[in-house]
Amino acid sequence: MAVTLMPLSEPLGVEVTGIDLSQPLDPEARQGLEDALIENMVMVVRDQDLSPAGLETAVGHFGPLMQQHLTSLLMEGHPKIVVLDSAKTKVGADGKFVPIGARDWHTDHAHQERPPNYSALYAVRLSPKGGDTGFANMQMGYARLGPDKRAELARHVVVTKIDDRYSTAKDRAAHREARTHPLIRTHPVTGRQAIFFHPGMVDHLEGMCAEASRTYLEELLEEVIAPEITYRHEWRSGDLVIMDNRGMMHIAHRDYDPMFGRILHRVLVEGEVPY
Ligand SMILES: [Fe+2]
Repeated sequence: MAVTLMPLSEPLGVEVTGIDLSQPLDPEARQGLEDALIENMVMVVRDQDLSPAGLETAVGHFGPLMQQHLTSLLMEGHPKIVVLDSAKTKVGADGKFVPIGARDWHTDHAHQERPPNYSALYAVRLSPKGGDTGFANMQMGYARLGPDKRAELARHVVVTKIDDRYSTAKDRAAHREARTHPLIRTHPVTGRQAIFFHPGMVDHLEGMCAEASRTYLEELLEEVIAPEITYRHEWRSGDLVIMDNRGMMHIAHRDYDPMFGRILHRVLVEGEVPY
């Protein structure tokens, strides 16, 4: 079957059909796929039938898999796979569900010294309705701002912390040290610059208190995220979605009953120190 690539929206996203990523790829085909992923930042590979080992092979085409910090969610026997099962959602002190994964626009594991280049999500069990994932092209978001605002943002440095909602004491002990990252990072392949942070993993911006930093970043997202830079993915059975964290942010929409038990498997690919 011929491999076909089709854009999913103007700002980002490409759909790939006619390929079984659990099989070996020749170097040219592999490079072609990674180039398309980098150019479009989100790749939706349709009709995959992936065992846990198959998922590791499929995503392993794009680099070595990275250890994730949510040790309580790791799959037994496959320690590089996190199982995102909405039925395991905790209930907070206020009686509300504490979503697994971030509530807001974010980029995965941004507290790490070398955050993952790519995150991949594989649909294992989908709710009948809802549960879309949104993606925002943060290179476009940055480019659309005026020169003064861009210069101001480029001066900011993020001091990170580990997300404390699903991490265990062991996870927190392994990530005790705060890291710093530029708020605006440069894509090592394309040279394009993008807004880069995870709101739940920001302790503060250098030179600002935590409260002021939170407000500043919330207002930034409000200003930047617009339909013109986003793509909303409606999941289909067999979808493997791979995203380039170096240029975009994503959001999980929680418009379904978590007790249904929607399951996605997540793996991350090792990355570089952002600059
Ligand atoms: Fe995420």
